[in-house]
Amino acid sequence: MDKLIIQGGATLNGEIWISGAKNSALPILAATLLCDEPVTISNLPHLHDITTMIELLGCMGAQVVIDEKLSIEVNASSLTSCVAPYKLVKTMRASILVLGPLLAHYGETRVSFPGGCAIGSRPVDLHLRALEAMGAEITIEEGYIHAKSNGRLKGAHVVFDVVTVGGTENAVMAATLADGVTILENAAREPEIVDLCRCLVAMGAEIEGIGTNRLVITGKEKLHGTEYAVMPDRIETGTYLTAVAATSGKVKLKNTDPSSLEAVLSKLQEAGADISLGEDWITLDMKGKRPKAVNVKTAPYPAFPTDMQAQFTALNSIAEGTSTVIETIFENRLIQAHEMNRMGAQIQLEGNAAVITGVEALKSAPVMATDLRASASLVIAALVAEGETVIDRIYHIDRGYECIEEKLQLLGANIRRVPD
Ligand code: EPZ
Repeated sequence: MDKLIIQGGATLNGEIWISGAKNSALPILAATLLCDEPVTISNLPHLHDITTMIELLGCMGAQVVIDEKLSIEVNASSLTSCVAPYKLVKTMRASILVLGPLLAHYGETRVSFPGGCAIGSRPVDLHLRALEAMGAEITIEEGYIHAKSNGRLKGAHVVFDVVTVGGTENAVMAATLADGVTILENAAREPEIVDLCRCLVAMGAEIEGIGTNRLVITGKEKLHGTEYAVMPDRIETGTYLTAVAATSGKVKLKNTDPSSLEAVLSKLQEAGADISLGEDWITLDMKGKRPKAVNVKTAPYPAFPTDMQAQFTALNSIAEGTSTVIETIFENRLIQAHEMNRMGAQIQLEGNAAVITGVEALKSAPVMATDLRASASLVIAALVAEGETVIDRIYHIDRGYECIEEKLQLLGANIRRVPD
C-alpha cells in the first residue's frame, strides 16, 4: 500500500483547480441506468470510487465509453444483469445507489447489502422503506437486497425519519419512473442532490422543490439521454482552504462553486481568514496569522458538513484557543483524534464531542489513515507538524482526492508518495 511522506512547516501559497464532486458524480452515474439512451457525463473526478462505479455499470452490461476529455458516455440499453455483486459493493458503499434506478427501470434487482465502515454502521433501512412505500417487495437473501415490483413503482408520500443523502437519492431516482406523484418530506438538500436532480430533469424527469427538503416528483414512462457536467467538489474545496489556513498561507481555488459551502467559509472567516469570492473562484488569505480556534457542530445541509469535520479538528489542533467539535451525523467519526494526539495534539473525546486545546505545533509521527476525510485531516496535521510524517493506508485518500500530492506540491508543500 502506498504511503505519503510529508515534511511539515511550509506555508502554502498558490493557485489550484478543483475537480468534479465525487458525491455528485456517483449518483449521477447510477442515474444513467434509468434510460435506454446514451448519457454523457463530464467534469468527473479521476478517483477510485468513480472507477468502481463505472466498473459496476460495466459488469451489468452497460456500454461505457471514455472520450478524449475523459468524459464518460454510459449507454444502459444493453444491460445484461441487474445484480450489483458483493465483490464491488464491499469496496464502495455508494454502490447502493444503483438500487433505485435498477428497480424503477427493470422491475427487479439484487444489490449486495453494503456493510458499515470506519465512521459508522451506515444502515440503509430508510432507502428500503422508501422503495417499499412505492410498491417494491424487498427481501434480504444471502447478504443481498432482493427488490422487485409488480409492474411500475407507484407514486408515494414518504417522510424520512432521518435526513439521508443516499436515501433521498435512491428515492428520487426511483420516483422519476414511478406511476404517479411521489412526495419526499424531510429530504436531504445537499448541493450534490440538487446536481443529481438537475441531471434527472435534463433526462426528462419532472421534479419540483429542488434544493428544498420537500421534493415532488411526477413519474414518467421513460427518460432520455443527455449530456451533463458534474458540479465542483465542495468538500475538496473546503479541504484545501482548511489546509492552507492551517499553514497561515494564501490560496486561490479555481473552477469551484462558493455558494455550496457557505457554512465552511463562515467558519474559516471566524478562524481569521480573509476570504474573497467570485462566480467560480475563492481566495483565502491568512496574512501569515495563526488560525483562531472555532467551535463546530455538524448537521445536514446547509449547516456545517460532516465531511469537513475531521479537517477542522486538524485546524483547531494548532489554532489559538480551545474549541469544541461536535459530530451529530455519524456515531464514530471522531476517530482521527487518536492519531492526531499521537502527533502531540490535545484532543479530549467526550461522546460525540471533541474538546481541542490548540498547541503551537504538532510533532511528526508515523500515522495510519482510517477513512477518507480522517486521512485528509492527517495530511493537514502533517503539513503543520515539525519533521517528517509518514501516512500509511492512503488508498482511503485516493477514493476522494484527485492528485492530492500534485495539488499540494503546487501550493509549495513538501509531500511525496512512495509505494509500500
Ligand atoms: C453521503 O453518505 C455521503 N456519501 C457521505 O460522504 C456524507 O458524509 C453523508 O452523505 C452525509 O452528508 C456519498 O454521497 C457517496 P446519509 P450517506 O444517508 O448517504 C443514517 C465522504 O466522505 N441513515 O446521509 O451514506 C446514517 O447512519 C462520504 O465523501 C440511517 O439511519 O449518508 C447517518 O447517521 C462519507 N438509515 C445519517 O443517516 C438509512 O437508511 C446520514 O447518513 C440511511 C442513513
